[in-house]
Amino acid sequence: MSTRETRPGSTGGADTPGPLHGGPDDDYSPEQLGTMSREELDRLGARYDGVEILHVDSGPEPGSRLEGRAIRQVGLVFGLAGVFALAFVVVYAGSGWFLPDWHWEISESGWSALFTPLLGLLMGLSLLMVGLGLVLFTKKLLPHETAVQDKHDGSHFDRVTSGATLVGGWHNSGLARRKLITRSLGLMGGGVGLMLLMPLGGMIKNPNKGDPLGSTNWDEGVRLVRNDGSPIRPGDQEPGSLETVFPAVAGGNIQADAATMLIRLRPEQVQEAQPREGQGDFGYGDYVAYSKICTHAGCPVSLYEQETSRILCPCHQSQFDVTQGAKPVFGPATRSLPQLPITVDDEGFFVARSDYIEAVGPTYWNRERI
Ligand code: FES
Repeated sequence: MSTRETRPGSTGGADTPGPLHGGPDDDYSPEQLGTMSREELDRLGARYDGVEILHVDSGPEPGSRLEGRAIRQVGLVFGLAGVFALAFVVVYAGSGWFLPDWHWEISESGWSALFTPLLGLLMGLSLLMVGLGLVLFTKKLLPHETAVQDKHDGSHFDRVTSGATLVGGWHNSGLARRKLITRSLGLMGGGVGLMLLMPLGGMIKNPNKGDPLGSTNWDEGVRLVRNDGSPIRPGDQEPGSLETVFPAVAGGNIQADAATMLIRLRPEQVQEAQPREGQGDFGYGDYVAYSKICTHAGCPVSLYEQETSRILCPCHQSQFDVTQGAKPVFGPATRSLPQLPITVDDEGFFVARSDYIEAVGPTYWNRERI
């Protein structure tokens, strides 16, 4: 409950200090202020502040059943926030230790597929409980007061009485005597603090294996297949046509970074072709295969205009010339589309000769890998 009195001269109580004269620093010396209790300072400050209290709801009676029930509810919610946060810490830190190891891959399944959603769920539940607990605590246990007051002028008097008002806020919260809530707050604070620090562990222990952003699932001997999984032979496509292909591995057609354009050049395009240096044998006959991921910002490119030999990216209109090793000839992209080295296997189907020799995707990679 608020202990504040209203403006001096209006409704000051019997226990409030006497009439006010000049400024507060004239009426009260630092020594006098130093001898007053917190309640006295709070009341005195209110009088000088010109506080007008419009409405007071003091909250549940201390020691009442209503208060006890509210304390248990708030303590339970704060405690749950701490438990969910600690569960987050256990899952994050325990992976690869006493829980299964986790690493990122596109076709992830089992624990790897569960790991990130589980962390998100636990963090979300913890933060939800923090918010819910604060709302419950404020609504059910804190006194509510509606008051208006004048601005402070920043004098010593104001600093001392404002400090007393702040301390009074802590006192009125009842946290000092509501042990269940302070304990659950401790659990919540510790758990949430640890939970927020945990992701920094990724800077120490990188959970990714190998180089997942710099490599794809293409490898020597891996067949090029259509979206329905069917393999492709030379001669399946008309000259001048394009087919999107994927590696023939589990989940290959959902591996966005491996999506590749298999293009059959027309005879005149073969004549004009100028492959990139060292990549003259990356094609097979009149076929070439390029990454479908735009080197500007990663959009899928596949608008192929065979008359001009250009592949267009619909996002920002970059254009790549397939007869020039998919060099960018227009738009914001500055790096050629990586070319996949291809050949055919014993059964006559197209296969990769290796993974891409450079990272696919945005030009960001230029800075470190090319
Ligand atoms: S993503 Fe292709 S041009 Fe921007």
